[in-house]
Amino acid sequence: MIKSVTGTKDILPSNIPRWKYLEKIVEQVFSDFNYKEIRTPVFEETALFARSIGEETDIVGKEMYTFNDKSDTSLTLKPEMTAAVVRAYVEHSLGTQQSLVKLFYISPMFRQERPQAGRFRQFHQFGAEAIGSPSPLLDVEMIQISYEILKSLGLKDLSVKINSLGTPETRERYKKLLKKFLKDKKNKLSEDSRRRFDTNVLRIFDSKVESDQKILNDAPKLIDNLDEESKNDFEIVKEQLNKSNIPFEMDPSLVRGLDYYTKLTFEIISGSVGSQNALCGGGRYDLLIENLGGKPTPATGFAAGIERILLACENESSFSINESEIDIYIVRIDKELEAFVIDLALKLRTRNIKVDFDYLQRSVKAQMREANKSKARFAIFMGGEEYQQGKLNLKNMQNGKEVLIPLNSHEEIINQIKV
Ligand code: HAM
Repeated sequence: MIKSVTGTKDILPSNIPRWKYLEKIVEQVFSDFNYKEIRTPVFEETALFARSIGEETDIVGKEMYTFNDKSDTSLTLKPEMTAAVVRAYVEHSLGTQQSLVKLFYISPMFRQERPQAGRFRQFHQFGAEAIGSPSPLLDVEMIQISYEILKSLGLKDLSVKINSLGTPETRERYKKLLKKFLKDKKNKLSEDSRRRFDTNVLRIFDSKVESDQKILNDAPKLIDNLDEESKNDFEIVKEQLNKSNIPFEMDPSLVRGLDYYTKLTFEIISGSVGSQNALCGGGRYDLLIENLGGKPTPATGFAAGIERILLACENESSFSINESEIDIYIVRIDKELEAFVIDLALKLRTRNIKVDFDYLQRSVKAQMREANKSKARFAIFMGGEEYQQGKLNLKNMQNGKEVLIPLNSHEEIINQIKV
């Protein structure tokens, strides 16, 4: 038997209502904040991700699904959306129609990570990119949106972490400072970190090696070396979060696993999902549009992992969903009425009445069982004496009341089942 690929998951019909419920909330909140949806292809040219996320990141270095197509172009299944959205923004000159472009998405992503609870190789994100303004209030908006969605899903065990990576100039200055600090400790670093010392020293913070982390504990912190502009913006973010009643903590180690960030970065962590606890993450990326061939344009965004959020919702029993019911189940008493049943069903279905009936020629008893199983509000009994008299029997399954309705009078059926 061929099974699903490691790290991928089927979303079975029994789970779909929870996904739909989440998607409805996501779409509602984005609409309230006036974001427009964007959909981009599942794969892009590999260079797009290498150039934006960064060659030295885990995502680009180890986790991408990259392949050559028949014309030998290197393509990659998208591991995240920011690069793809920025590519679309530049390609379609979206910035010429509006100075601030506010976009959201819900989409599958692909990363070849080691699968575990809350970590998959195909997973789904919803997220936003707001392109065109340097205002820290827009960074606050990202946190407001993600916090609002998570609260609307009923989640409580949340903590918001924020940090600032400063302007690109500050980062360059800080990189030199960090290099100076690490220089005489370089041979104590892991092999990966020694390589990163030369290629992209900030990425050493991604190291999971304990001895690396020990050395980094005493390293100078970026947050203590911020430029005035980043400091001011950071203060505004903090002040506004307080005003919005969003509790937060500062986390100077929050460098995030992607290279494009400048100034504010944030994550929202759940206390109810185990080690893969980041429900969402994001921040400002003021250089990315320029790096991908656009005009210099400031931007900010975030993305959230849907599987992880639904896991948190399950663990916190944060919402429950009434199982879907149908309006009418048609029970066919006489076998020869099959053609009449499908015809009546179609008439009702095309009036948006949810109708089902038996396709397996089962007994009346078995059909009734099916009607109960599908939580039908009403049952129609078709056949027997009543049929001989030109009628059908409509039964209210909640209170047991029955009415006789002339055959072909589907209008009357519709009137009777109105709530
Ligand atoms: P990210 O932190 O790489 O950021 O991913 C965002 C969220 O996606 C994570 O917090 C997590 O919930 C979920 N996620 C990531 N990897 C996996 C996985 N293997 N399995 C399940 N869930 C996962 C970004 O992707 C940036 N593009 C966010 C952003 C948008 N920054 C600015 N704009």
